[in-house]
Amino acid sequence: MATVTVGAVRERAPGERRVALVPEAVTLLHKAGIDVLIETGAGSGAWFADADYTAAGAAVVPADELYARADAVLCVGPPDPDTARSLRAGQTLIGLLEPLRYPALVQELHGRGVRTASLDLLPRTLSRAQSMDALTSQASVAGYKAAVVAAESYDRFFPMLTTAAGTMRPAQVLVLGAGVAGLQAIATARRLGAVVTGYDVRPESRGEVESLGARFLDVQTPHDEEPGTRRGGYARELTADEQKAQRAALDEHIGRSDVVITTAQVPGRRPPLLVTSAVLGRMRPGSVVVDLAASELGGNVEGSEPDKTDVLAGGVTVIGAGRLPSAMATAASTAYARNLVALLRHLVRDGDLVLDPADEITGALMGGETS
Ligand code: NAI
Repeated sequence: MATVTVGAVRERAPGERRVALVPEAVTLLHKAGIDVLIETGAGSGAWFADADYTAAGAAVVPADELYARADAVLCVGPPDPDTARSLRAGQTLIGLLEPLRYPALVQELHGRGVRTASLDLLPRTLSRAQSMDALTSQASVAGYKAAVVAAESYDRFFPMLTTAAGTMRPAQVLVLGAGVAGLQAIATARRLGAVVTGYDVRPESRGEVESLGARFLDVQTPHDEEPGTRRGGYARELTADEQKAQRAALDEHIGRSDVVITTAQVPGRRPPLLVTSAVLGRMRPGSVVVDLAASELGGNVEGSEPDKTDVLAGGVTVIGAGRLPSAMATAASTAYARNLVALLRHLVRDGDLVLDPADEITGALMGGETS
């Protein structure tokens, strides 16, 4: 019987420490009859040595051998142009390829007969796809880490502490955007003992926020007349008027918070601006704002930039979170590798890698590619 060979490459993006497969995933893939190649040094950023992969049954090989032998090349983020050029016709590239952000990459690969499966295109509300949901696994890591980063930068306690020297009040934490990352940030800030408030434009998130022991922020805005949710469970983009009204309603709550963590995203759009410079100027000195949505397109916080921390003149620290999942590379890689194992179990049938565009999951990942 034929055997499918997959190969996990070393990530080359600056600062990226994650790896697509971890040793436990190699063992699982072997059990599923899949051969595994690992590029030399691929796991070192996430503390997995080449010897750990060899012990799990993988062959550790240089990049050129991996590209020559693998039926499917596995990555975390989109490949750099050099890596993309190494792929050949008939080969499949699987990863978080961000086709909405980098459409040219996927088009170029398809033009050369390389197939792609972009995990960002997974139909996330489909229950049998949930074990493959890499956006969720990575957003959970980012949300957890955002709360930890905020606590680390905040020069007071998160919990209420009663000591011989008196009582210290708990931190007031506000989380804007209560999707996967926001809910994990809320849960983590609660575990650290803060008093947490959550807000989202999707009304259905209220129950999720409250079930974590946080308060849901009620703000009256015009979008209450048309719910902020569209198909697939994602938020819709608010109109300019709605955004203005939302900011006015949020300003007072932001000004009263010690820590604000923002996670609001609308797929394929610029992240909504929720925290303006004016409101940052009204926060107390020592307050901390972590913007998980910070990107080259802008973020939820005016002036925030990915991987950049600013201490503003008023004493407010603004942290533009860049690669939070990469900052917890071992946990993020382990979760991502489990997503890939679930996907490969779905794609490999009778020793063949089957990319069937008519299959609900596979077709979505291929993003409409039909060749
Ligand atoms: P995301 O990363 O695209 O957005 C994060 C959050 O920002 C979302 O909750 C969104 O509603 C919120 N948001 C957008 N604009 C906003 C604004 N102007 N003000 C305040 N908040 C705003 O979303 P994520 O975390 O990837 O998923 C969002 C939702 O998608 C989930 O909560 C869930 O309902 C659905 N989903 C369902 C899954 C399932 O059924 N298995 C899996 C993953 C997501």
